[in-house]
Amino acid sequence: MKNFPDNFLWGAAMSAPQTEGQSSNFGKTATIWDHWFQTAPEKFYHHQGPEITSDVYDHYLEDCENMQAIGLNSLRTSISWARLLPDGKTVNPEAVAFYRRYFSAMRDHGVEPIINLFHFDTPMWLMARGGWENRESIDAFAFYARTAFELFDDLVNKWTTFNEPLVHVECGYLYQYHYPAVVDFKRAVQVGYHTLLAHKAAVKAFKEVTQTGEIGIILNISPTYSKSDTEADVLAAQRSDLLNTRSFLDPAVLGTIPDELLILLKENELMPATKSEDHALIKGNIVDFIGLNYYQPRRVQAQEKPKTPAQMPDDFYQPYDWPDKRINPHRGWEIYPEALYDVAMMMKNDYHNKPWYVSENGMGVAAEETFMNANGEIEDDYRIAFMKEHLSYLHQGIREGSNCFGYHAWTFVDCWSWLNGYKNRYGFYRLDLATRKRSVKKSGRWMKQVSENNGF
Ligand code: BG6
Repeated sequence: MKNFPDNFLWGAAMSAPQTEGQSSNFGKTATIWDHWFQTAPEKFYHHQGPEITSDVYDHYLEDCENMQAIGLNSLRTSISWARLLPDGKTVNPEAVAFYRRYFSAMRDHGVEPIINLFHFDTPMWLMARGGWENRESIDAFAFYARTAFELFDDLVNKWTTFNEPLVHVECGYLYQYHYPAVVDFKRAVQVGYHTLLAHKAAVKAFKEVTQTGEIGIILNISPTYSKSDTEADVLAAQRSDLLNTRSFLDPAVLGTIPDELLILLKENELMPATKSEDHALIKGNIVDFIGLNYYQPRRVQAQEKPKTPAQMPDDFYQPYDWPDKRINPHRGWEIYPEALYDVAMMMKNDYHNKPWYVSENGMGVAAEETFMNANGEIEDDYRIAFMKEHLSYLHQGIREGSNCFGYHAWTFVDCWSWLNGYKNRYGFYRLDLATRKRSVKKSGRWMKQVSENNGF
Protein backbone atom coordinates (compact mmCIF):
# COMPACT_ATOMS: atom_id res chain seq x y z
CA MET A 1 0.00 0.00 0.00
CA LYS A 2 1.34 3.43 -0.92
CA ASN A 3 -0.08 6.00 1.50
CA PHE A 4 -0.07 9.67 0.66
CA PRO A 5 0.11 12.62 3.09
CA ASP A 6 -3.01 13.68 5.01
CA ASN A 7 -5.32 16.00 3.11
CA PHE A 8 -3.69 15.04 -0.18
CA LEU A 9 -5.57 16.53 -3.13
CA TRP A 10 -6.97 13.93 -5.51
CA GLY A 11 -8.51 15.55 -8.50
CA ALA A 12 -8.51 16.48 -12.12
CA ALA A 13 -7.74 19.50 -14.24
CA MET A 14 -9.63 21.15 -17.05
CA SER A 15 -9.95 24.60 -18.59
CA ALA A 16 -12.69 27.02 -19.57
CA PRO A 17 -11.98 27.13 -23.31
CA GLN A 18 -11.81 23.33 -23.54
CA THR A 19 -14.98 22.58 -21.59
CA GLU A 20 -17.33 25.51 -21.09
CA GLY A 21 -19.00 25.74 -24.50
CA GLN A 22 -21.44 28.59 -25.24
CA SER A 23 -18.36 30.31 -26.56
CA SER A 24 -20.21 33.14 -28.28
CA ASN A 25 -23.19 33.35 -25.92
CA PHE A 26 -24.16 34.91 -22.60
CA GLY A 27 -22.02 37.95 -23.17
CA LYS A 28 -18.71 36.24 -23.96
CA THR A 29 -16.61 37.80 -26.70
CA ALA A 30 -14.19 35.96 -28.99
CA THR A 31 -10.83 34.58 -27.98
CA ILE A 32 -8.02 33.77 -30.41
CA TRP A 33 -9.48 30.23 -30.62
CA ASP A 34 -12.94 31.39 -31.69
CA HIS A 35 -11.34 33.73 -34.20
CA TRP A 36 -8.90 31.18 -35.59
CA PHE A 37 -11.58 28.55 -35.99
CA GLN A 38 -13.77 31.01 -37.88
CA THR A 39 -10.99 32.10 -40.19
CA ALA A 40 -9.03 28.84 -40.65
CA PRO A 41 -11.22 25.84 -39.69
CA GLU A 42 -9.09 23.52 -41.82
CA LYS A 43 -6.33 23.73 -39.20
CA PHE A 44 -8.58 21.99 -36.65
CA TYR A 45 -8.85 18.20 -36.48
CA HIS A 46 -12.09 17.16 -38.21
CA HIS A 47 -13.08 20.85 -38.24
CA GLN A 48 -13.93 20.55 -34.53
CA GLY A 49 -13.97 24.01 -32.96
CA PRO A 50 -14.40 25.56 -29.50
CA GLU A 51 -18.11 26.45 -29.75
CA ILE A 52 -19.68 23.56 -27.82
CA THR A 53 -16.88 21.49 -26.21
CA SER A 54 -18.30 19.48 -23.26
CA ASP A 55 -20.85 22.22 -22.55
CA VAL A 56 -20.06 22.58 -18.87
CA TYR A 57 -22.04 25.82 -19.00
CA ASP A 58 -25.19 23.70 -19.03
CA HIS A 59 -23.87 20.53 -17.37
CA TYR A 60 -21.94 21.98 -14.43
CA LEU A 61 -24.27 20.63 -11.76
CA GLU A 62 -24.24 17.09 -13.13
CA ASP A 63 -20.46 17.41 -13.44
CA CYS A 64 -20.09 18.37 -9.78
CA GLU A 65 -22.18 15.33 -8.82
CA ASN A 66 -19.90 13.21 -11.01
CA MET A 67 -16.76 14.66 -9.39
CA GLN A 68 -18.06 13.60 -6.01
CA ALA A 69 -19.13 10.19 -7.35
CA ILE A 70 -15.52 9.28 -8.20
CA GLY A 71 -14.07 10.69 -4.99
CA LEU A 72 -12.44 13.85 -6.32
CA ASN A 73 -11.78 16.25 -3.45
CA SER A 74 -10.47 19.04 -5.71
CA LEU A 75 -10.67 20.22 -9.27
CA ARG A 76 -8.85 22.85 -11.28
CA THR A 77 -10.51 24.78 -14.03
CA SER A 78 -10.19 28.30 -15.35
CA ILE A 79 -12.26 31.43 -15.74
CA SER A 80 -12.70 32.71 -19.27
CA TRP A 81 -11.26 36.23 -19.36
CA ALA A 82 -13.36 37.06 -22.45
CA ARG A 83 -16.50 35.93 -20.62
CA LEU A 84 -15.86 37.74 -17.34
CA LEU A 85 -14.65 40.98 -18.98
CA PRO A 86 -15.97 40.92 -22.57
CA ASP A 87 -14.26 44.23 -23.43
CA GLY A 88 -11.48 43.97 -20.87
CA LYS A 89 -13.08 46.56 -18.59
CA THR A 90 -16.76 45.85 -17.96
CA VAL A 91 -17.86 42.96 -15.73
CA ASN A 92 -20.40 40.63 -17.38
CA PRO A 93 -23.07 39.83 -14.74
CA GLU A 94 -24.05 36.59 -16.49
CA ALA A 95 -20.48 35.36 -16.18
CA VAL A 96 -20.37 36.26 -12.49
CA ALA A 97 -23.65 34.40 -11.88
CA PHE A 98 -22.40 31.34 -13.82
CA TYR A 99 -19.05 31.07 -12.05
CA ARG A 100 -20.64 31.65 -8.65
CA ARG A 101 -23.16 28.84 -9.32
CA TYR A 102 -20.38 26.56 -10.61
CA PHE A 103 -17.84 27.14 -7.82
CA SER A 104 -20.57 26.92 -5.15
CA ALA A 105 -21.76 23.62 -6.61
CA MET A 106 -18.21 22.24 -6.42
CA ARG A 107 -17.96 23.19 -2.78
CA ASP A 108 -21.42 21.76 -2.05
CA HIS A 109 -20.14 18.45 -3.45
CA GLY A 110 -16.98 18.39 -1.34
CA VAL A 111 -14.70 19.52 -4.18
CA GLU A 112 -12.18 22.29 -3.57
CA PRO A 113 -12.01 24.57 -6.62
CA ILE A 114 -8.54 25.60 -7.76
CA ILE A 115 -9.17 28.44 -10.14
CA ASN A 116 -6.81 29.46 -12.89
CA LEU A 117 -7.00 32.73 -14.80
CA PHE A 118 -5.45 32.03 -18.19
CA HIS A 119 -5.34 28.83 -20.21
CA PHE A 120 -4.10 29.85 -23.69
CA ASP A 121 -7.28 31.90 -24.31
CA THR A 122 -6.13 35.41 -25.18
CA PRO A 123 -9.18 37.60 -25.81
CA MET A 124 -9.40 39.01 -29.33
CA TRP A 125 -9.76 42.56 -28.02
CA LEU A 126 -6.27 42.18 -26.54
CA MET A 127 -4.89 40.46 -29.64
CA ALA A 128 -6.19 43.35 -31.74
CA ARG A 129 -3.90 45.60 -29.68
CA GLY A 130 -0.86 43.36 -30.20
CA GLY A 131 -1.67 40.70 -27.61
CA TRP A 132 1.13 39.85 -25.18
CA GLU A 133 3.65 41.76 -27.30
CA ASN A 134 2.02 44.94 -26.07
CA ARG A 135 3.17 46.01 -22.60
CA GLU A 136 -0.44 47.06 -21.89
CA SER A 137 -1.20 43.33 -21.54
CA ILE A 138 0.40 43.42 -18.07
CA ASP A 139 -2.03 45.95 -16.62
CA ALA A 140 -4.95 44.43 -18.51
CA PHE A 141 -4.24 41.01 -16.95
CA ALA A 142 -3.67 42.47 -13.49
CA PHE A 143 -7.03 44.24 -13.71
CA TYR A 144 -8.73 41.00 -14.73
CA ALA A 145 -7.00 39.10 -11.92
CA ARG A 146 -7.96 41.68 -9.29
CA THR A 147 -11.57 41.66 -10.53
CA ALA A 148 -11.75 37.86 -10.29
CA PHE A 149 -10.19 37.81 -6.80
CA GLU A 150 -12.71 40.40 -5.57
CA LEU A 151 -15.69 38.64 -7.12
CA PHE A 152 -14.92 35.05 -6.06
CA ASP A 153 -12.67 35.40 -3.02
CA ASP A 154 -15.36 33.91 -0.75
CA LEU A 155 -15.61 30.73 -2.86
CA VAL A 156 -12.01 30.12 -3.92
CA ASN A 157 -8.99 29.64 -1.66
CA LYS A 158 -6.44 28.44 -4.20
CA TRP A 159 -5.79 30.51 -7.31
CA THR A 160 -3.33 30.19 -10.16
CA THR A 161 -2.41 32.88 -12.67
CA PHE A 162 -1.35 31.02 -15.83
CA ASN A 163 -1.46 27.48 -17.10
CA GLU A 164 1.80 26.64 -18.89
CA PRO A 165 2.82 30.22 -19.70
CA LEU A 166 5.53 28.98 -22.06
CA VAL A 167 3.00 27.31 -24.31
CA HIS A 168 1.22 30.36 -25.74
CA VAL A 169 4.71 31.83 -26.18
CA GLU A 170 6.24 28.95 -28.13
CA CYS A 171 3.09 27.75 -29.90
CA GLY A 172 2.03 31.29 -30.84
CA TYR A 173 5.44 32.74 -31.76
CA LEU A 174 7.71 29.82 -32.68
CA TYR A 175 5.91 26.63 -33.70
CA GLN A 176 2.62 27.86 -35.21
CA TYR A 177 0.21 25.70 -33.17
CA HIS A 178 -1.58 28.74 -31.69
CA TYR A 179 -2.78 31.98 -33.26
CA PRO A 180 -1.12 34.29 -34.39
CA ALA A 181 1.21 31.49 -35.59
CA VAL A 182 4.23 33.77 -35.95
CA VAL A 183 7.81 32.44 -36.16
CA ASP A 184 10.07 34.97 -34.46
CA PHE A 185 12.33 34.13 -31.49
CA LYS A 186 12.77 37.74 -30.39
CA ARG A 187 9.03 38.43 -30.40
CA ALA A 188 8.52 35.16 -28.51
CA VAL A 189 10.89 36.32 -25.77
CA GLN A 190 9.02 39.63 -25.50
CA VAL A 191 5.70 37.78 -25.19
CA GLY A 192 7.21 35.55 -22.51
CA TYR A 193 8.59 38.53 -20.60
CA HIS A 194 5.26 40.36 -20.54
CA THR A 195 3.56 37.13 -19.47
CA LEU A 196 6.00 36.83 -16.57
CA LEU A 197 5.33 40.42 -15.52
CA ALA A 198 1.57 39.88 -15.85
CA HIS A 199 1.89 36.88 -13.54
CA LYS A 200 3.87 38.94 -11.03
CA ALA A 201 1.39 41.84 -11.21
CA ALA A 202 -1.48 39.41 -10.57
CA VAL A 203 0.28 37.96 -7.51
CA LYS A 204 0.79 41.52 -6.24
CA ALA A 205 -2.92 42.28 -6.75
CA PHE A 206 -3.82 39.06 -4.94
CA LYS A 207 -1.83 39.95 -1.84
CA GLU A 208 -3.54 43.36 -1.81
CA VAL A 209 -7.05 41.92 -2.16
CA THR A 210 -6.93 38.94 0.19
CA GLN A 211 -4.90 37.75 3.13
CA THR A 212 -6.50 34.34 3.40
CA GLY A 213 -6.11 32.44 0.15
CA GLU A 214 -3.06 31.11 -1.69
CA ILE A 215 -1.77 31.85 -5.13
CA GLY A 216 0.44 29.89 -7.51
CA ILE A 217 1.27 29.30 -11.15
CA ILE A 218 1.06 26.14 -13.23
CA LEU A 219 4.10 25.30 -15.30
CA ASN A 220 4.71 22.55 -17.81
CA ILE A 221 7.67 20.51 -16.70
CA SER A 222 9.65 18.31 -19.07
CA PRO A 223 12.88 17.63 -17.19
CA THR A 224 15.80 17.51 -19.58
CA TYR A 225 18.02 14.44 -19.89
CA SER A 226 21.20 14.75 -21.96
CA LYS A 227 22.23 12.06 -24.41
CA SER A 228 25.63 11.65 -22.74
CA ASP A 229 27.91 13.14 -20.11
CA THR A 230 30.05 14.99 -22.61
CA GLU A 231 30.48 18.68 -21.86
CA ALA A 232 28.61 19.67 -25.01
CA ASP A 233 25.57 17.46 -24.32
CA VAL A 234 25.41 18.56 -20.68
CA LEU A 235 25.57 22.21 -21.73
CA ALA A 236 22.73 21.58 -24.21
CA ALA A 237 20.63 20.09 -21.38
CA GLN A 238 21.40 23.03 -19.08
CA ARG A 239 20.34 25.48 -21.78
CA SER A 240 17.16 23.55 -22.40
CA ASP A 241 16.30 23.72 -18.69
CA LEU A 242 17.13 27.42 -18.64
CA LEU A 243 14.67 28.17 -21.41
CA ASN A 244 11.99 25.61 -20.65
CA THR A 245 11.98 25.29 -16.85
CA ARG A 246 13.98 27.95 -15.07
CA SER A 247 12.66 30.86 -17.18
CA PHE A 248 9.42 30.84 -15.15
CA LEU A 249 10.14 28.61 -12.16
CA ASP A 250 13.10 30.69 -10.89
CA PRO A 251 11.32 34.06 -10.99
CA ALA A 252 8.09 32.55 -9.60
CA VAL A 253 9.73 30.86 -6.59
CA LEU A 254 13.11 32.54 -6.14
CA GLY A 255 12.35 36.01 -7.50
CA THR A 256 15.22 35.97 -10.00
CA ILE A 257 15.73 35.45 -13.70
CA PRO A 258 18.84 33.22 -13.98
CA ASP A 259 21.98 35.15 -14.99
CA GLU A 260 22.90 32.40 -17.44
CA LEU A 261 19.59 32.93 -19.22
CA LEU A 262 20.14 36.68 -19.45
CA ILE A 263 23.64 36.11 -20.86
CA LEU A 264 22.29 33.63 -23.41
CA LEU A 265 19.60 36.09 -24.51
CA LYS A 266 22.09 38.97 -24.74
CA GLU A 267 24.60 36.92 -26.73
CA ASN A 268 21.89 36.04 -29.20
CA GLU A 269 20.33 39.50 -29.52
CA LEU A 270 17.10 38.26 -27.94
CA MET A 271 16.78 40.60 -24.96
CA PRO A 272 13.24 41.94 -24.52
CA ALA A 273 12.40 45.59 -23.92
CA THR A 274 12.30 46.16 -20.15
CA LYS A 275 11.62 48.99 -17.70
CA SER A 276 13.55 49.78 -14.53
CA GLU A 277 10.55 49.12 -12.29
CA ASP A 278 10.35 45.49 -13.52
CA HIS A 279 13.16 44.40 -11.23
CA ALA A 280 11.20 45.01 -8.02
CA LEU A 281 8.09 43.34 -9.42
CA ILE A 282 10.06 40.22 -10.32
CA LYS A 283 12.03 40.12 -7.06
CA GLY A 284 8.92 40.25 -4.92
CA ASN A 285 5.54 38.65 -5.43
CA ILE A 286 6.64 35.09 -4.75
CA VAL A 287 4.05 32.34 -5.20
CA ASP A 288 2.63 30.31 -2.31
CA PHE A 289 2.68 27.10 -4.32
CA ILE A 290 3.57 25.67 -7.71
CA GLY A 291 1.58 23.37 -10.00
CA LEU A 292 3.59 21.21 -12.38
CA ASN A 293 2.05 19.56 -15.44
CA TYR A 294 4.08 16.50 -16.31
CA TYR A 295 3.55 14.42 -19.43
CA GLN A 296 6.95 13.58 -20.90
CA PRO A 297 10.67 14.25 -20.47
CA ARG A 298 12.84 16.19 -22.90
CA ARG A 299 15.93 14.42 -24.27
CA VAL A 300 18.60 16.53 -25.89
CA GLN A 301 22.09 16.49 -27.33
CA ALA A 302 24.44 19.23 -28.50
CA GLN A 303 23.35 21.04 -31.63
CA GLU A 304 25.69 20.10 -34.47
CA LYS A 305 24.98 23.10 -36.68
CA PRO A 306 23.83 25.95 -34.43
CA LYS A 307 23.01 29.27 -36.03
CA THR A 308 24.49 32.36 -34.41
CA PRO A 309 22.63 34.34 -33.34
CA ALA A 310 20.08 31.62 -32.53
CA GLN A 311 16.96 31.65 -34.70
CA MET A 312 15.06 28.97 -32.74
CA PRO A 313 15.49 27.24 -29.36
CA ASP A 314 16.90 24.20 -31.08
CA ASP A 315 19.96 26.23 -32.00
CA PHE A 316 20.83 25.70 -28.32
CA TYR A 317 20.03 21.99 -28.14
CA GLN A 318 18.95 19.30 -30.53
CA PRO A 319 16.26 16.72 -29.72
CA TYR A 320 17.67 13.29 -29.01
CA ASP A 321 15.65 10.19 -29.86
CA TRP A 322 16.36 7.74 -27.04
CA PRO A 323 16.24 4.24 -28.59
CA ASP A 324 14.92 2.67 -25.34
CA LYS A 325 11.95 4.99 -24.95
CA ARG A 326 8.38 3.82 -24.34
CA ILE A 327 5.87 5.81 -26.27
CA ASN A 328 2.15 6.60 -26.18
CA PRO A 329 1.53 6.14 -29.91
CA HIS A 330 -1.72 8.15 -29.90
CA ARG A 331 -0.09 11.36 -28.76
CA GLY A 332 3.49 10.53 -29.73
CA TRP A 333 4.75 11.38 -26.26
CA GLU A 334 7.35 9.37 -24.34
CA ILE A 335 6.15 7.62 -21.18
CA TYR A 336 8.78 8.05 -18.46
CA PRO A 337 7.26 7.99 -14.95
CA GLU A 338 10.72 8.05 -13.30
CA ALA A 339 10.86 11.77 -14.09
CA LEU A 340 8.25 12.51 -11.40
CA TYR A 341 10.75 11.44 -8.75
CA ASP A 342 13.39 13.72 -10.30
CA VAL A 343 10.89 16.59 -10.37
CA ALA A 344 10.02 15.99 -6.71
CA MET A 345 13.72 16.11 -5.80
CA MET A 346 14.28 19.23 -7.90
CA MET A 347 11.52 21.02 -5.98
CA LYS A 348 12.97 19.86 -2.67
CA ASN A 349 16.60 20.66 -3.39
CA ASP A 350 16.54 23.63 -5.78
CA TYR A 351 13.33 25.47 -4.83
CA HIS A 352 13.36 25.60 -1.02
CA ASN A 353 10.94 22.65 -0.90
CA LYS A 354 8.12 24.99 -1.95
CA PRO A 355 4.71 23.33 -1.68
CA TRP A 356 3.78 21.95 -5.10
CA TYR A 357 1.39 19.53 -6.72
CA VAL A 358 1.13 17.54 -9.91
CA SER A 359 -1.40 19.75 -11.64
CA GLU A 360 -1.72 17.59 -14.78
CA ASN A 361 -0.65 14.08 -15.74
CA GLY A 362 -2.44 11.78 -18.07
CA MET A 363 -2.66 9.68 -21.17
CA GLY A 364 -4.54 10.65 -24.32
CA VAL A 365 -5.85 7.69 -26.28
CA ALA A 366 -7.64 7.69 -29.64
CA ALA A 367 -10.64 5.49 -30.53
CA GLU A 368 -11.30 4.53 -26.91
CA GLU A 369 -14.62 2.99 -27.92
CA THR A 370 -12.48 -0.02 -28.92
CA PHE A 371 -12.13 -0.67 -25.19
CA MET A 372 -15.86 -0.49 -24.41
CA ASN A 373 -17.24 -3.55 -22.62
CA ALA A 374 -20.73 -5.05 -22.97
CA ASN A 375 -22.08 -2.62 -20.35
CA GLY A 376 -20.85 0.37 -22.34
CA GLU A 377 -17.97 1.15 -19.96
CA ILE A 378 -14.53 2.04 -21.30
CA GLU A 379 -12.04 -0.37 -19.69
CA ASP A 380 -9.03 1.94 -19.70
CA ASP A 381 -6.60 -0.33 -17.84
CA TYR A 382 -3.73 1.34 -19.73
CA ARG A 383 -4.64 4.66 -18.04
CA ILE A 384 -4.80 3.07 -14.58
CA ALA A 385 -1.39 1.49 -15.17
CA PHE A 386 -0.01 4.83 -16.38
CA MET A 387 -1.25 6.66 -13.27
CA LYS A 388 -0.09 3.93 -10.89
CA GLU A 389 3.43 4.09 -12.30
CA HIS A 390 3.56 7.87 -12.07
CA LEU A 391 2.10 7.91 -8.58
CA SER A 392 4.65 5.33 -7.44
CA TYR A 393 7.58 7.55 -8.40
CA LEU A 394 5.83 10.57 -6.93
CA HIS A 395 5.30 8.61 -3.72
CA GLN A 396 9.02 7.84 -3.53
CA GLY A 397 9.79 11.56 -3.87
CA ILE A 398 7.30 12.43 -1.12
CA ARG A 399 8.78 9.74 1.15
CA GLU A 400 12.14 11.40 0.66
CA GLY A 401 10.74 14.72 1.83
CA SER A 402 9.39 16.52 -1.23
CA ASN A 403 6.52 18.82 -0.27
CA CYS A 404 3.91 17.62 -2.76
CA PHE A 405 0.28 18.13 -1.74
CA GLY A 406 -1.72 16.63 -4.59
CA TYR A 407 -2.15 14.82 -7.87
CA HIS A 408 -4.53 16.00 -10.58
CA ALA A 409 -5.16 13.97 -13.69
CA TRP A 410 -5.81 15.49 -17.06
CA THR A 411 -8.78 15.29 -17.25
CA PHE A 412 -12.19 14.90 -15.63
CA VAL A 413 -14.52 14.47 -18.65
CA ASP A 414 -13.06 13.95 -22.17
CA CYS A 415 -12.65 17.45 -23.56
CA TRP A 416 -11.89 19.46 -26.67
CA SER A 417 -8.21 19.91 -27.36
CA TRP A 418 -7.01 22.87 -29.42
CA LEU A 419 -5.98 21.64 -32.86
CA ASN A 420 -6.62 17.97 -31.96
CA GLY A 421 -10.38 18.25 -31.34
CA TYR A 422 -11.75 15.16 -29.63
CA LYS A 423 -9.22 12.74 -31.15
CA ASN A 424 -7.33 11.81 -27.98
CA ARG A 425 -9.45 11.14 -24.91
CA TYR A 426 -8.06 11.71 -21.41
CA GLY A 427 -11.09 11.74 -19.08
CA PHE A 428 -12.25 9.73 -16.09
CA TYR A 429 -15.63 10.09 -17.85
CA ARG A 430 -16.31 9.46 -21.51
CA LEU A 431 -18.04 12.22 -23.47
CA ASP A 432 -20.57 11.18 -26.09
CA LEU A 433 -20.20 13.79 -28.81
CA ALA A 434 -23.75 13.36 -30.13
CA THR A 435 -25.52 13.79 -26.79
CA ARG A 436 -22.87 15.31 -24.48
CA LYS A 437 -23.75 12.47 -22.10
CA ARG A 438 -21.00 11.57 -19.59
CA SER A 439 -20.29 7.98 -18.54
CA VAL A 440 -17.73 6.85 -16.04
CA LYS A 441 -14.71 4.83 -17.22
CA LYS A 442 -12.97 2.12 -15.23
CA SER A 443 -10.24 4.64 -14.30
CA GLY A 444 -12.89 6.85 -12.67
CA ARG A 445 -14.04 3.99 -10.47
CA TRP A 446 -10.39 3.24 -9.67
CA MET A 447 -9.76 6.86 -8.68
CA LYS A 448 -12.63 6.66 -6.17
CA GLN A 449 -10.83 3.83 -4.35
CA VAL A 450 -7.51 5.65 -4.46
CA SER A 451 -9.04 8.79 -3.00
CA GLU A 452 -10.99 6.90 -0.32
CA ASN A 453 -7.86 4.99 0.73
CA ASN A 454 -5.59 8.02 0.25
CA GLY A 455 -3.32 5.70 -1.70
CA PHE A 456 -3.32 2.41 -3.49
C1 BG6 B 1 -1.69 20.31 -21.28
C2 BG6 B 1 -2.63 21.47 -21.45
O1 BG6 B 1 -0.40 20.69 -21.58
O2 BG6 B 1 -1.90 19.20 -22.08
C3 BG6 B 1 -4.04 21.07 -21.86
O3 BG6 B 1 -2.68 22.26 -20.28
C4 BG6 B 1 -3.99 19.98 -22.90
O4 BG6 B 1 -4.73 22.20 -22.29
C5 BG6 B 1 -3.23 18.79 -22.32
O5 BG6 B 1 -5.25 19.63 -23.40
C6 BG6 B 1 -3.17 17.57 -23.20
O6 BG6 B 1 -2.58 17.87 -24.44
P1 BG6 B 1 -3.36 17.65 -25.78
O7 BG6 B 1 -2.64 18.49 -26.78
O8 BG6 B 1 -3.28 16.19 -26.10
O9 BG6 B 1 -4.77 18.11 -25.57
